[in-house]
Formats: sequence, C-alpha cells, structure tokens
Amino acid sequence: MIKPAAYQNMYAGKILDMILSNGFRIAAIKVLNLTSAQAAKFYEVHKERPFYNDLVKSMTSGTILAAILEKENAVEDYRTLIGATNPANAAEGTIRKYFGESVEKNAVHGSDSDENAIIEASFFFAELDRV
Ligand code: RTP
Ligand code: MG
Repeated sequence: MIKPAAYQNMYAGKILDMILSNGFRIAAIKVLNLTSAQAAKFYEVHKERPFYNDLVKSMTSGTILAAILEKENAVEDYRTLIGATNPANAAEGTIRKYFGESVEKNAVHGSDSDENAIIEASFFFAELDRV
C-alpha cells in the first residue's frame, strides 16, 4: 500500500517507478478510501498495540493505493526496498527514506510474510482483479 500522506503528496508515480525498476511485477492495483472498519480489520494484528487507534485514523485520512507485487523472494526484497519502519532509521536509497515523514506517515506498507501477503491481497482484490 501507498499510505495516505504519500499518495496525497503525489509520490505514487515515483514509488511505483522504484518498485518496477527493482524487478517487481504489478499483478493488481487500485486506489481507494478505507473506512475505519476496513482499516481496523486490515491492521487487526496490531489491535493491542498503543498506536493502533492512531494507525487506523491515519490510514483513513485519505486515498491509498493498494497493489499486489510479485517477484522471487518478494516479501524480503520489498522490505529491503522500503527500509525501516521509522523513516529516520531507514537506509539511504529506500522508499521510506525518500518519502516517509514519520513512523506513522512512513509512505508505504509491506506484507511481513508470504502467508500474510495472501491474506492482504485477498482483502483488497478478487481473483478477477489480478493478472
Ligand atoms: P507496515 O506493516 O505498515 O509495512 O510497517 P512495518 O511492518 O514496518 O511496521 P509494523 O510494526 O507492522 O507497524 C505497522 C504500522 O504501524 C505504525 N506504527 N506506529 N507509533 C509507533 O510506535 C508505531 N509503530 C508502528 C507504522 O506506520 C507501521 O508502518
Ligand atoms: Mg507490518
């Protein structure tokens, strides 16, 4: 996902350029506005964390871009490309280093395992939406 602040700041084109030029294939893509209930469900794993309510609020503050990305070793390689959760700790050349403003406004989301990638992909997309 490209998160609301990054989308609002017109970074989607540059972020997608980095994703594509690093060998990822876009299998599905869309822009949408999440409801609070949808964002709460998406981030349900973080329900007990102190930042959960702020996270849900932030993810519903504007339009997001959701995509399914494919590549060998996609989860690990994408997390390397996006950088650390806190943009202040993200390595040079990473998406979060370039486009993140804070831990909350850290530009993008990435799935943390193949298993969760499948769950998250089907949260956003039907089988017919993907190539
Ligand atoms: P993501 O799931 O969004 O790809 O990020 P991540 O794996 O790097 O980080 P995660 O621990 O899964 O946290 C999910 C999102 O919650 C926000 N967060 N805020 N205020 C805080 O201490 C805090 N910690 C995490 C971030 O926006 C993070 O991306
Ligand atoms: Mg995560």
